[in-house]
Amino acid sequence: MKMIKVQTGGKLYIAGEYAILTPGQTAIIKNIPIHMTAEVKGSPEIKLFSDMFDYAVGMTEDNNYALIQQTIVTLFDYLGKSAEAMPPFELSITGKMERDGKKYGIGSSGSVTVLTLNALSAFYDLNLSADLLFKLASYTLLKMGDNGSMGDIACIAYDDLVAFTSFDRPKVAKWIAEESIQEVLDKDWGYRIERIKPALPCEFLVGWTMQPSISRDMINLVKSAITPEFLAETQKQVLICQKALESADKETVKTSLQKVSDLLLGLSSAIYNDKLKALKAAEKGLDVIAKSSGSGGGDCGIAISFSPNDSKELIKRWQEAGIELLDLEELA
Ligand code: PMV
Ligand code: MG
Repeated sequence: MKMIKVQTGGKLYIAGEYAILTPGQTAIIKNIPIHMTAEVKGSPEIKLFSDMFDYAVGMTEDNNYALIQQTIVTLFDYLGKSAEAMPPFELSITGKMERDGKKYGIGSSGSVTVLTLNALSAFYDLNLSADLLFKLASYTLLKMGDNGSMGDIACIAYDDLVAFTSFDRPKVAKWIAEESIQEVLDKDWGYRIERIKPALPCEFLVGWTMQPSISRDMINLVKSAITPEFLAETQKQVLICQKALESADKETVKTSLQKVSDLLLGLSSAIYNDKLKALKAAEKGLDVIAKSSGSGGGDCGIAISFSPNDSKELIKRWQEAGIELLDLEELA
């Protein structure tokens, strides 16, 4: 019997977090090569297992498995098939993106949704495009009441460095409530996902604070502080940064990321907690720009370094501050 194995990676924001919650804003989000794995094979009935929980379920309602179950329902609805009409399968998901019970903060509920779609796309030979994956995963999460921008999904579905311009989620949620899934998916939701090809030789580093932060709570805490000025200034710097990455303009990459970092610092004191302040301060005197990533308040920060020697020094300073290197890769 054919057994199919697929993987999805993680994601981290480089610029545009929080602003991206407002439709029409743009964020730069990087794929991270730390993977979750799904194995799927034919089975007499649907069986679902995730190593997040120590039990398996079918399609009978289960709180822990609700998102995976909803993802399957979304896909079957999209195909216009009832669950009974489709060959049943056994799906097993492993790779928790955490250590010692502490999450890295590079995945999300979005990762599981995209992974499940990827696995079933391979099992049923559907060849779903990255864009359709994005729409099906976003549809599922909106249906589940997720309060995120879907930037994580854009990055994970494309598995690439992307510039994501967000869509009007309440509008799409209304379509979902009122129209068929086929009609909703056929519409232009108004987002834009562009793959970025950086031309600038540099190293991209991820520092893990080992302090888990919950994006949903951070969004609820910070949301009301977002002003039109914050949005306009962030948008300006994000677009400048994208262009600078593509045209290998090092100084502008540094100044634009410094500005978005300052904007986050001014948005809420919850974003730069002590660990993330230390992660940023470690750039001092080095040919490096560092910042908090995503919701902040813990999880990870990122850095872009223009000198391998300075990367080494940065990693040493991070270690001294209790920040662990999770990933180091060349951006171009
Ligand atoms: O902490 P992360 O990597 O899940 O990123 C959250 C980014 C926010 O803009 C704060 C929320 C969102 O969903 O876009
Ligand atoms: Mg986070």
